[in-house]
Amino acid sequence: MKKKKVVSVLLTAGLVLSVNGVYAQGNGGTPNSNATSAFDNKIIKKISADNMYNTIALLSEQPRTAGTPGELIGAQYIKSQFEKYGYETELQSFPIYDVVRNNVSGILEIGGQNLKPYVFSGSYSGETTAEVVNVGKALAGTVPDTVRGKIALIERGENTFVEKIQNVLDKGAVGVIMYNNSGTSNAFGQASYGQNIPAVGITRAQGLALVEQLKTGPLTAQLKVSGSGLVEKQSYNVIAKMKPQKNKDTGQIVMVGAHHDSVPGGPGANDDASGVSAVLELARVMSNMPIDSELRFVTFGSEEKGLLGSYHYASTLSDAEADKIVAHFQMDMIGSKDAGGDHAANGLIMYTIDGKKNKVTDLASAAGARTALGEVVPYGQLGRSDHQPFHELGIPAALFIHSPLEPWYHTPADTIDKIDKNKLQETAEIVGAAVYQIARPDTPALIHSRVAPKPVDYDFENRSPGA
Ligand code: BES
Ligand code: ZN
Repeated sequence: MKKKKVVSVLLTAGLVLSVNGVYAQGNGGTPNSNATSAFDNKIIKKISADNMYNTIALLSEQPRTAGTPGELIGAQYIKSQFEKYGYETELQSFPIYDVVRNNVSGILEIGGQNLKPYVFSGSYSGETTAEVVNVGKALAGTVPDTVRGKIALIERGENTFVEKIQNVLDKGAVGVIMYNNSGTSNAFGQASYGQNIPAVGITRAQGLALVEQLKTGPLTAQLKVSGSGLVEKQSYNVIAKMKPQKNKDTGQIVMVGAHHDSVPGGPGANDDASGVSAVLELARVMSNMPIDSELRFVTFGSEEKGLLGSYHYASTLSDAEADKIVAHFQMDMIGSKDAGGDHAANGLIMYTIDGKKNKVTDLASAAGARTALGEVVPYGQLGRSDHQPFHELGIPAALFIHSPLEPWYHTPADTIDKIDKNKLQETAEIVGAAVYQIARPDTPALIHSRVAPKPVDYDFENRSPGA
């Protein structure tokens, strides 16, 4: 190692010490050695890829689409495993809304003319005949009281579809006709749950013609939407907590997460039964270890619908609780034979939201060098998973994934036969060793000792996952 580099490593060490963390473990204090230590072995020797593989096989027997019985069965299984390992568990439910489409049709007749409207995604199915009132863009505070009992004619643009519909609904409107703000695509956005009036879209030319007609006299429209709507379903997060002994408690919380839902029709073996299997395996392995920080393992629902479970979970944290969370490790797609290409670290990469290193990446990259993988793990920048809401709360967070993705991503072919036990083992060891470095009772005192873990150099990679 060049002299200049040593200086930068020492600087990093100084910085990291101040936030209580880090690194590759020296064997008996040998400089720059990243050998596995007895300390790592307490965790990693117990991690069984066979256990993880069996969990994936079980979970991927059927899709676990958010809001379906498949999700609930999976979530209940995960909860029962956490319980078996002695954790305090919770099945946290939250509502999600699915669009219903069943021969959707819309009719809009004005003055004997059928305008063949576009039906809003999730629009309430209903029928109304009423006068039309031009309410402009239906911006907050601008909707006239005269819209009560009438159909609102709204111009697209400036605020969201949901806001526009809500603003006229609040004034008692009984239907919505929205006209486009440009001549191009006439596809319109979504209505929201509870907006129980029919909503359709028309072209800009049609809308402007109605605006002109309304200047000359009243217009009555007949508006009918059928086959469309929104239904409420329940999705779930599964939460497991292990508190440290009272006299050993640092007040810190370390989190490990994955998402248990799959895309509709996909068995989601790699996405993300693989991550769940590692969460469960680490929970098992750590259940009997002495700890000085709270361990919190969570599997999220509705990730595939837009990170809904993790956002819901984050919204339930008080400021004080969020402040205690010192790290969030998210594992999503950690076992594919066919992902990662020829990249170093078997294709494993740690993605952060801001593309910067943090406590999670520092700990895990160094752990990579001293566990089964035997090399540091690079980092990159990407969202697209449940590390996002934690980052937004100011919590150091990263996504562990093999990149580029496998060709089976989000297909029915994401099955157990595509899973590589070696990748599961390597990733679980890395996260396990890094987590335990925070939670073991002799940190931070450890970092002053001769066997202090060492920081490692690891690089940013501008690597796109594809798909
Ligand atoms: N497992 C993926 C995450 C992912 C996909 C990471 C592709 C890197 C590349 C996740 O389950 C997923 O599919 N996420 C969605 C986004 C989410 C906000 C709905 C995606 O990436 O399309
Ligand atoms: Zn996923």
